[in-house]
Amino acid sequence: MKSILNIITEEISGAFEAKGYDRSYGKVTLSNRPDLCQYQCNGALAAAKEYKKAPIMIAEDVVSSLKDNKLFNKVEAIKPGFINIDVSNDFLADYLNDMNKDEKHGFEEVDNPKTIVIDYGGPNVAKPLHVGHLRSAVIGESLKRLARFVGHEVIGDVHLGDWGLQMGLIITELKKRQPELLYFDEEYDGEYPEEAPFTISELEEIYPAANEYSKENPEFKEEAKQTTFLLQNGHRGYTALWNHILNVSIADLKRNYDNLDVSFDLWKKESDAQKYIPDMVKYMKENNYTRISDGALVIDVKEETDTREIPPCMVLKSDGATLYNTTDLATIVEREKLFDPDRIIYVVDKRQELYFEQVFRAAKKTKIIGDDVELIFQGFGTMNGKDGKPFKTRDGGVMRLEYLIESINEEVYSKMMENRTIPEEEAREIAKIVGLAALKYGDLSNQASKDYIFDIDRFTSFEGNTGPYILYTIVRIKSILKNYEKITGSSLKNGVIRPYDIESQINLMLEASKFNETIANAYEELAPHKLCKYVYDLSNAFNTFYHENKIIAEEDKEKQESWIALIKLVLEILETSINILGFKAPERM
Ligand code: ARG
Repeated sequence: MKSILNIITEEISGAFEAKGYDRSYGKVTLSNRPDLCQYQCNGALAAAKEYKKAPIMIAEDVVSSLKDNKLFNKVEAIKPGFINIDVSNDFLADYLNDMNKDEKHGFEEVDNPKTIVIDYGGPNVAKPLHVGHLRSAVIGESLKRLARFVGHEVIGDVHLGDWGLQMGLIITELKKRQPELLYFDEEYDGEYPEEAPFTISELEEIYPAANEYSKENPEFKEEAKQTTFLLQNGHRGYTALWNHILNVSIADLKRNYDNLDVSFDLWKKESDAQKYIPDMVKYMKENNYTRISDGALVIDVKEETDTREIPPCMVLKSDGATLYNTTDLATIVEREKLFDPDRIIYVVDKRQELYFEQVFRAAKKTKIIGDDVELIFQGFGTMNGKDGKPFKTRDGGVMRLEYLIESINEEVYSKMMENRTIPEEEAREIAKIVGLAALKYGDLSNQASKDYIFDIDRFTSFEGNTGPYILYTIVRIKSILKNYEKITGSSLKNGVIRPYDIESQINLMLEASKFNETIANAYEELAPHKLCKYVYDLSNAFNTFYHENKIIAEEDKEKQESWIALIKLVLEILETSINILGFKAPERM
């Protein structure tokens, strides 16, 4: 289905044309004065120059040809040349009834689906997931669901950080603590145990300890570097240990992501890209894309139009070692080979923006990826505490994601219990669902690139622009529908939505009708916050309607049926939307 805005724009454009003006002036937007009209067209103001006429004359001209148009309730020319538009209630009702018949509530999937890789999550092996990784997971997951809903082929890749010095540090620290382990016996050539010699909590303690220790002890750091080198060149014992580290870590990560309702199609690791490096480097050298700078191999990526300094992209360090850049370039080679994507979207902390600019330019310049492939950096801001500084635990440490989730659930639980009694176990279950919505909505409702303040009290509030408020609205509709079924003894069917001239109903219908437009726009701009805003507006419109009309007590059965059909559609739209955002609603709360 066409969006309402498109339909109206078509109609107004036709009117411009009929009166001898260019149809492109007929573009319609949502009104920025909802108190005066629903939609507006400012084309007459722009056309005035071209036609050397007063804008109001053009506007009046256009309006005069729309007098009996069934689409509109009102089309007015207003000084100096605005065209104010209200759609007719009949048209709106027809539109909603069509939405009701459509599986995607009137959203039409694209007819040229693209292959899109989304690189998000980006956790690092053996380091606990912390709140910094939360945003990437939450935003990436919703972009993935949004792109899929729009009709694209989407591959979500966690791109696990499993390469580099951190691995050498852990192995060296283990050797210091347990030198007797088989993995360190250079003579040993048998099988290694299947069981890892550590648990996830031990592992998570080992890494920071090793990291701290290496800062004070240069010889330890040197050994860790050597260990990393040996590991990367196939040392048997270290490779066996590394596999243990991976397995233990990944199992833990999966559990954490499960709790967040985040899932990946691919669990690719930085190490998976390593095998592409030798050929890639050779190709880059042979084609003269690289030069030596202070012993390192680099690609110049600055451009004449740059307004800031873009340093060269380093491919190999002076000692021949590869680095983060090399891995990312090789990953592009791998993705191109395996998936032939049209777009790759990176959902990463915005502090890595310059880095990605270098990598993208290097990839395009060396043609390891075609010019037609879009490489998109979707940088996100920092989640701050109430003090405006990066979010920390009370004692100043890095907050583990698990604890953060627990504290939200706890807060929701106590708010829920304030004024009602629900059996403990059920309440805990519900608190989990609502807590996740609080967390995700709290994040997604902000423009991704901005920093935001993590305010547990506000996020978990059942009022205002919050996840729990949206869920509360959904639960309210569900309960009305159940009640209706109980009272009438009939099961819900798709009734007809009728245009009763009641302000709160028309407003609700107007909000509902914006669904397809909103989805298209949110995807276009990769902006889940636009979908959040829509969900919030729709919830508000519903709640006003609910407070002003007694749905269950309504005696006019036709009217009641029509209202039930309307709120059922609203419910479906809300549930579809929150599913795209990455959370769901409980049956009650
Ligand atoms: N592991 C990285 C980090 O923690 C994020 C990875 C982002 N993705 C990428 N292709 N570099 O900073």
